Amino acid sequence: MSIEMKSAPLVAREIENLKKRCDSLKAKGVTPNMKVLLVGENKASLIYTRNKKRFCEKFGAECEIINLNENIKEDEFLNKVREISNREDVHGCFVQLPLPKHLQHIDCGALIAPEKDVDGFHDHNIGELFKGDPKSNGLMPCTPQGVVNLIEFYGHELSGKNVVIIGRSLIVGKPLSLLMLNKNATVTVCHSRTAHLQEHTKRADIVVSAVGRPRFLTSEYLSKDKNQILVDVGINHDADGKLCGDMDYENIKDLCAGITPVPGGVGPLTILSLAQNLLQAAENSL
Ligand code: GUN
Repeated sequence: MSIEMKSAPLVAREIENLKKRCDSLKAKGVTPNMKVLLVGENKASLIYTRNKKRFCEKFGAECEIINLNENIKEDEFLNKVREISNREDVHGCFVQLPLPKHLQHIDCGALIAPEKDVDGFHDHNIGELFKGDPKSNGLMPCTPQGVVNLIEFYGHELSGKNVVIIGRSLIVGKPLSLLMLNKNATVTVCHSRTAHLQEHTKRADIVVSAVGRPRFLTSEYLSKDKNQILVDVGINHDADGKLCGDMDYENIKDLCAGITPVPGGVGPLTILSLAQNLLQAAENSL
């Protein structure tokens, strides 16, 4: 029997922690305050930002979505982000991606003050992740931090484990490899040019997939001992429009020790990490 590694129990536990930390900040006269910059009306972004706002309000923080016109001029956009990021009453701030085409060349992480960069995209925070000092109060990237928290929540130590990450994106694969290395895992990052991918995944104690290919990871990628932990970061739609991950969940769920479902696995943890970063930013500001 494998364990279905849902995120709901972890989120429920952490909301209670966030409430306590938020109350304690309020007692010191600080209400954690997040600003979300949303350019245009991308459907998925509208839903994501609304969910982020609702989540912050659940534990007592303030969160405002600032809607900017799809055709906003680059100068005006840059000034707006800087103005919001510089406000003293704002503790956390981010630009929801993707941006409209004419703004896509902008490195949004660089526009926001590093101590308010709740996405963990600023070079300073990437540097802190790279250095891996456990005492650092740098803000860590959200989805990767959520993956680490979920694995640990289900009682799995990363130290000494062989982890194979499939995908080398700037938002998930690369930063996750550093977070796990900082936890003393032995990390292999595989990607579209990796030869003999199955040989890597079969040898892993933990496999993380973040490539965006519906159900590509089948039983052929797994070891026969059924002891592996499988973490699916993919959020895809199959040919019938059904939501699914990168892993062939139904056919592999009994061939491993633990597996994250899609939906209900890694997905909700990005928002949880964002909220944890907001509180850390507010606490750092004291
Ligand atoms: N769009 C999709 N995921 C993310 C994320 O983690 N941060 C931001 N800012 N935009 C996103």
